[in-house]
Amino acid sequence: MEGSVRTYNVVHLPGDGIGPEVTAVARDVVDQAGKRHGFSVDWRHSPLGSEHYLRTGEVLSDETLAELRPADAIFLGAVGSPSVPPGVLERGLLLRLRFELDLYVNLRPAKQRPGVETAGADDLDFVVVRENTEGLYAGAGGIAHQGSSFEVATEESLNTRAGVERCVRYAADLAKRRGGKLTLVHKTNVLVNAGSLWMRVAKDIAAAEGVDLDYAHVDAACLYMVSDPGRFDVIVTDNLFGDILTDLAAALTGGLGLSASGNLNPARTGPSMFEPVHGSAPDIAGTGKANPAGAVLSASLMLDHLGEPAASAELEAAVDAVLAKGGAATTSAWADALTAEVSR
Ligand code: IPM
Ligand code: MN
Repeated sequence: MEGSVRTYNVVHLPGDGIGPEVTAVARDVVDQAGKRHGFSVDWRHSPLGSEHYLRTGEVLSDETLAELRPADAIFLGAVGSPSVPPGVLERGLLLRLRFELDLYVNLRPAKQRPGVETAGADDLDFVVVRENTEGLYAGAGGIAHQGSSFEVATEESLNTRAGVERCVRYAADLAKRRGGKLTLVHKTNVLVNAGSLWMRVAKDIAAAEGVDLDYAHVDAACLYMVSDPGRFDVIVTDNLFGDILTDLAAALTGGLGLSASGNLNPARTGPSMFEPVHGSAPDIAGTGKANPAGAVLSASLMLDHLGEPAASAELEAAVDAVLAKGGAATTSAWADALTAEVSR
């Protein structure tokens, strides 16, 4: 029954530093799970990243973008390198993909895992829904009178009703599916304009969806995350707050090595993109010490999005099983341990 095997076209964009090392492990585990669950992944390599940029001058061309659009998903390692000025790849590649592919939700689960001590209080299992296309990331602003003592630099936070609504709607729906509550995190006492829009939208959508709504200012949310994380189930927040909060959440749950993310286009007008939260970590690239768990958990999010929830759950369970036994010290030890778990 060859024809009945489900096939997904996934662009593998390993990128820089430890990106290729960790995504190679995740790819193998996905292929292995696919054999057991009746699907296969047609991986297509994309060379984008610092080396490609330095060699060819391309960060992300319109042609390459057009090639990515028909994919079912994009699986990204990490981008960024000390040999490329800051911002070039971050804005030109990563953020451009988020914007152009309309990946308006950045989904970042934070969960206390077996065998991993949390740095704060116990009872931590929440998901951050980070708005991913607007806010201070939108690129509005500029520099005038550069170099003079009257130099002005501005970054404006853009918040559209449509952009806030679609993000909050996704988060409310997720809270409903998890049987939990929604917490809006913002800074409504200072950022009164954007805060007002976010608050009005969150209230309306939560009421319409029948979801309990809570609210915390972002500074207090940092404190609660450490001292009382059990109060959170689904957090919805703006782009920069979400960026910062999810690094804190990662630190609390075992570090960036274990943190996963999905850049989602919930409307499915194009591929969603999955990546570990960690960066290219040039300091440990090539040492064989990179932890592939974040990449594997990101692949688990990808499989869920592709409609393979059983395989997705299996990948997450494999990571948890390895962690419960104390984890692994090297990338290849992780690979061996995960392979053993998935074929059990
Ligand atoms: C992240 C990263 C990116 C961000 C950078 C690399 C542009 O920190 O995915 O959290 O700020 O969104
Ligand atoms: Mn970040």
